[in-house]
Amino acid sequence: MPRPVHFGALPIDEQRRLAASDPAYGRLVCRCEIVTEAEILDAIERGARTLDGLKFRTRAGMGRCQGGFCTSRCMEQLARELRRPLTSISKRGSGSWLVLDRDVLQAQEERS
Ligand code: FES
Repeated sequence: MPRPVHFGALPIDEQRRLAASDPAYGRLVCRCEIVTEAEILDAIERGARTLDGLKFRTRAGMGRCQGGFCTSRCMEQLARELRRPLTSISKRGSGSWLVLDRDVLQAQEERS
């Protein structure tokens, strides 16, 4: 498997060439760290299953806004690619979910 692309570190000519050859390189997911949709998809293909997994592999979420802009985008891509509900996407695994399912929460409250 070839090394992952770090789009933000490439010269502008190479960035343009990549974006022309694959539109996913033309869509920024993380503006602060200049991480493209193609890099996020590649990280998921390489095994990222959580937000921290994406952050470790791509730096998405480590920028100036600390994920204020890109967290929801990363979560949506994880959910879409893994074909899982958004409520199952977590920061670093079980117990660190970011979105609660109201019905599940209500059922838990009724049991306790
Ligand atoms: S947009 Fe990703 S850290 Fe700011």
